Amino acid sequence: MRNILSRTGAAIALVLAASFPATADDDLVARGAYLVDTVMACGNCHTPMGPNGPDLGRHLSGGLHFDTPYFTVTASNLTSHETGLGTWSDDEIKRAIATGHRPDGSALAPIMPTSFYHVLTPRDLDAVVAYLRTVPPVDNAVPVPRYEGPPPPAFPGAESPILEDEQDADPLRKGFYLVTIAHCMECHTKINEGGGRGTMGAGGMELPGPWGVAVSANITSHPEAGIGEWSDEEIIRAITTGVSRDERPLSPPMGYRYYAGIAPDDLAAMVAYLRTVPAADAP
Ligand code: HEC
Ligand code: HEC
Repeated sequence: MRNILSRTGAAIALVLAASFPATADDDLVARGAYLVDTVMACGNCHTPMGPNGPDLGRHLSGGLHFDTPYFTVTASNLTSHETGLGTWSDDEIKRAIATGHRPDGSALAPIMPTSFYHVLTPRDLDAVVAYLRTVPPVDNAVPVPRYEGPPPPAFPGAESPILEDEQDADPLRKGFYLVTIAHCMECHTKINEGGGRGTMGAGGMELPGPWGVAVSANITSHPEAGIGEWSDEEIIRAITTGVSRDERPLSPPMGYRYYAGIAPDDLAAMVAYLRTVPAADAP
């Protein structure tokens, strides 16, 4: 079951990329499919999740429910149905993704990793929206969000675009870009009591869901507490197949079913960047 699911996840982007003749628009949709369904793993929140991960038959039709002291929200329906983004303009969708505001001006709860999406290049933001437009409609009105006051500060993701060209030749810059838009550090950095963040990448964040409670791992370059001594292959295997260095299967919400489809060059760049994350032995 696991394998079938992970292959389906990886296949979505590939099938989509393959089924279009290559025009500029189709290239944009293919790039968007790649970003949404692999690197950025939007479905890891926006697709219904069970104990073993996402239900890909209802891809992007609304997913995880987050019940916190600050807000009670559900990851929205992103399909082209009217209960999803069907009635939104491209610019409205872009604004929600990159600034965290709905068309009526209301702010999205910072669970939506907008602070990481500030770095998106204009072309990548266009690509994400172009692809979302092609996602088949699914009728699913998610519960109305409830806000209890000002939310805690979002993770200081990134202020603004850092790349002019998403195919940047420098692996470290490209790796930083990809790890940022993949919002790896949102899960891999603990939230302390009071809402501040712990040490970047040092893990220790408890993530409850239909899978139970998973605790994120230390992915800094620390030799024992982190992944400093892991080989590139071991890191890539964990990211793309959900198998840890000691063969232990990783629990959701680690998004390996999506990451399975990340291109080898992009994975190499991501690993190169992860190796530069300062070593920390505690969250
Ligand atoms: C970590 C979980 C998470 C990830 C990953 C995530 N989102 Fe969200 N998103 C949410 C939640 C939760 C909401 C609803 C927030 C609220 O109601 O205040 C939301 C809201 C939105 C909205 C507003 C829709 C509406 O009807 O209000 C859009 C658009 C959106 N997300 C797009 C995306 C895209 C595109 C991606 C991937 C690039 C993505 N999200 C990744 C959790 C996530
Ligand atoms: C939605 C939350 C979430 C996101 C996003 C996420 N991870 Fe994870 N990751 C986890 C959790 C939880 C674990 C531990 C699972 C377990 O122990 O069963 C984990 C485990 C890992 C491990 C295995 C470490 C070990 O010691 O076994 C690596 C490597 C890793 N993640 C890298 C990444 C990278 C790189 C990204 C971004 C591409 C990423 N993760 C994105 C939640 C997340």
